[in-house]
Amino acid sequence: MSKLNAALGRINPKLAARVERGLRRVPFVRNLLEQQYSSIVGDLDASLHPYRGRLPSYPRLPKTGRSRADILAEMEMLQAEEQQRWRDGYVSGAVYHGDAGHIDFLNRVYALNAQSNPLHFDLWPSTVKYEAEIVAMTAHMLGAGETSGPIVGTVTSGGTESILLAMRAYRDRARAERGIERAQIVAPASAHAAFDKAAQYFGIELVRVPVGADYRADVGAMAAAIGEQTGALVGSAPSFPHGAVDPIPELAELAQARGVGLHVDACLGGFVLPFARGLGYDLPDFDFRLAGVTSMSADTHKYGYAAKGTSVVLYRGEELRRFQYYAVADWPGGLYFSPTFAGSRPGALSAACWAAMVSLGEDGYRSAAARILATANWIKFWVAQIPELVVLGDPLFVIAFASPTLDIYRVLDAMTHRGWSLNGLHRPAAVHLCVTLRHTEPGVAQRFIDDLRAAVAEVKANPSTTGGMAPVYGMAAAMPMHGVVEDMLKRVVDALYRVE
Ligand SMILES: Cc1ncc(COP(=O)(O)O)c(C=O)c1O
Repeated sequence: MSKLNAALGRINPKLAARVERGLRRVPFVRNLLEQQYSSIVGDLDASLHPYRGRLPSYPRLPKTGRSRADILAEMEMLQAEEQQRWRDGYVSGAVYHGDAGHIDFLNRVYALNAQSNPLHFDLWPSTVKYEAEIVAMTAHMLGAGETSGPIVGTVTSGGTESILLAMRAYRDRARAERGIERAQIVAPASAHAAFDKAAQYFGIELVRVPVGADYRADVGAMAAAIGEQTGALVGSAPSFPHGAVDPIPELAELAQARGVGLHVDACLGGFVLPFARGLGYDLPDFDFRLAGVTSMSADTHKYGYAAKGTSVVLYRGEELRRFQYYAVADWPGGLYFSPTFAGSRPGALSAACWAAMVSLGEDGYRSAAARILATANWIKFWVAQIPELVVLGDPLFVIAFASPTLDIYRVLDAMTHRGWSLNGLHRPAAVHLCVTLRHTEPGVAQRFIDDLRAAVAEVKANPSTTGGMAPVYGMAAAMPMHGVVEDMLKRVVDALYRVE
């Protein structure tokens, strides 16, 4: 099997994709695949819909409305059940703050602003103020005070939207200024999937460049990948899979020398890294202090400790930002414009984001970063002491680990059985823990290491246990062509939307 995979791995990927598409159209192959998809998704179904049979289900509107008290009671019960895992620190990423007092405060702010919609800036000028200040505060934290020109941006709905908007801006700038129809973006293999999404949505060519042995962008290989059509390079600070901070100073120099943009994806690091150096961690510049950095994404709804649904995209100069806007002058509905993808937007989320930032202040973010970085450093040290595991690269707060001797996905499954929700990674096979404030609570980091040691020992004693995510990742790794796995993932999305 591995010889076959190695041989298949040498096939030109474009040719393989074409063969695969052709094969999948053959009725016999299609039927076989559909049977496989149904069987795999069928096995997952119960775990995707744990409330089936337990709670009333609504495939259509109820004839008469249900009482508010009844609805609230049901939701309170579900919330109490579902918050247990993240509140007790069993979850990688996902809830970055999670303190009850902070959540109550944001909920009060949301309630006060629940009707607000920044599309109607005349009705809610308070939201306009909040959004402008969110952008200004984030820009200042990321070096705006030390640049010659202005750093500007907008509030978006999340990291993915920030990245999509920036990529579209580079595409349209390349079109307008260089006559390039299909712009190219050069990104390290470790850059977030949102860059692939942008490429698919907007007809951009994404060139993925393998990372170095330290899991950081390989600057020489990135330089070699730049071509006539390149609109921008990408670097992460840090990357989602391995928590590696790319060599941004070198990428910025390269971008400037070749006359292209550089987007620094600081969705994860935007509110942690600005404080890391002051706390004694070794970190080169990664933001607008470097002249070659032309745009950044920083997620307020991660380490900015806002409620879910906001992020910030920043640009060096208003001209580049204008390529992300939408405006139409000949629509019968009137003169229309919007800064981001959505039309109407939840102003309450921007209000809550502003309130989170202003209530924490620099001191609040610095002390949160100190706790997170110290805890992550401790976890990294003790993971590395487990003889069967290796930590990938030298991360700051996203700790990825692999095993040269064990199936790491079985370790992931054994951790899941102990209540943990960690992230499975592949290419290479690994698992990561994204350390948040939840893990800085007393006893949580120690429990992680104790459980990880026990999980490793269990897999070592029974290396051939079946079930869980191990076979799914095994299949994805064995599949030289991705289309089949992607088709299967889309069937999982279908299943998520199925009502009983
Ligand atoms: C580095 C990085 N970029 C982008 C994103 C996408 O963010 P979102 O899930 O908010 O769309 C993530 C999410 O984890 C990330 O870690």
